[in-house]
Amino acid sequence: MDAGTRAFPKDFLFGVATAAYQIEGAAHEGGRTDSIWDAFARVPGAVVDGHNGDVACDHYHRYESDVQLMADLGLQTYRFSTSWSRVQPDGGPVNAEGLDFYSRLVDQLLEKNIKPWLTLYHWDLPQALEEKGGWANRDTAYRFAEYAANVHDVLGDRVDAWTTLNEPWCSSFLSYIGGEHAPGRQEPEAGLAAGHHLLLAHGLAVQELRSRNPELQLGITLNLTVADPADPTDAGDLDAARRIDGQFNRFFLDPIFRGSYPDDLLADVAHLGFDKYVLPGDLEITSAPIDALGVNYYHGELVSAQPSVREASTAAPSERPKRSPFPAAEGVYWHARDLPTTAMGWEVQPEGLTRLLNRVKAEYTGTAVKLYVTENGAAYNDTVEDDGSVHDSERAAFLEQHLGAILDAIDDGTDVYGYFYWSLMDNYEWAWGYHKRFGIVRVDYETQERTLKDSAIHYRKIIARRTL
Ligand code: NOJ
Repeated sequence: MDAGTRAFPKDFLFGVATAAYQIEGAAHEGGRTDSIWDAFARVPGAVVDGHNGDVACDHYHRYESDVQLMADLGLQTYRFSTSWSRVQPDGGPVNAEGLDFYSRLVDQLLEKNIKPWLTLYHWDLPQALEEKGGWANRDTAYRFAEYAANVHDVLGDRVDAWTTLNEPWCSSFLSYIGGEHAPGRQEPEAGLAAGHHLLLAHGLAVQELRSRNPELQLGITLNLTVADPADPTDAGDLDAARRIDGQFNRFFLDPIFRGSYPDDLLADVAHLGFDKYVLPGDLEITSAPIDALGVNYYHGELVSAQPSVREASTAAPSERPKRSPFPAAEGVYWHARDLPTTAMGWEVQPEGLTRLLNRVKAEYTGTAVKLYVTENGAAYNDTVEDDGSVHDSERAAFLEQHLGAILDAIDDGTDVYGYFYWSLMDNYEWAWGYHKRFGIVRVDYETQERTLKDSAIHYRKIIARRTL
């Protein structure tokens, strides 16, 4: 790579992201008990090849060398999540040993001058709470605020950046309606209730943390998308795009930034009795002021109300990810474009990130709330050479293109304060098990050996030069 001419702002942070269940392993150690993912992974057919997170990347035992790896890459910040069932086994009393692991991790990061960025919930609800109704049960939101306080009690003196939830779309609609993620339920009404209760949990935790320390940087991470109509002059296609934008973006952004649910979405789901879950005062809680919005962006979508509108739709239906469990998305069809795809079948669409950031700033965050890209990354079928190297030029290009898309947004006047590549290392890709590799670091699951892929070396150079 030539030294580029496009500089990142001085305060722009370069990082990577991971999540507890995807990397820690030690699932039955240190007092930890089952989360919904431990239980889901035991259900035959739920996860490819029945893979589970029992060992994962063994990060629980290898965190010191993993942090050293981050330091070697020049990373400025590290986004990780705490496991609720490690901190509070079965959702019950605090387990000091569980919290101590995170305390040691944070100390190690600070020692290497890496800013810890903590996410409280990355999909691993204690199974015992699922047995009481999970996120469909309003009480879980209050339990979450207590859990946030418990983590803050031990880490609050050293962690400034707090994210309440990661991608609540996944932990509600994909998990309770689509059934593709834990707990694997297929209940539209429960899924909508879960969506609202997650937003409530977010707001309650923000209030709790804010009351303890007004200086904390508090936020949430959403998986947002850019939904384009296949034919922008067709009313049906425009409505398909509206509904997809509604379930992924506005269902979450509006209660957080505007203290209301969008009228069109409420109308779409009125027949499911959603209103009864939203109690007086709830939307004041969901809209408790935040300091940072994390955007997770992987790709956008081209949608229509027609099953086939384009010759370019070459992918067989079974190869297309089923990503629309939201009840109001019935009759929406996805169409492939002439874009390269990753091993997930996801289109590589960096310009969508620019548009998304610009829109979120214009319509929601303004200048009061800092924008970060808290996840972006690509799975590819990496090949390991005889000498152990991995020449993942597609991933390196993906990374560079999306960083370029962020610079484009900054040029447009949308300030962006950081980027976290997903992920530091190959890990447990949920229902795909260990089959999909997103890491810039290769993990050999037999030996737990870590090897820098070419993309990691490329990222290290970009971070050192701070230009593209
Ligand atoms: C979003 C999730 O937050 C993360 O856990 C997942 O592995 C990546 N996307 C890739 O699918």
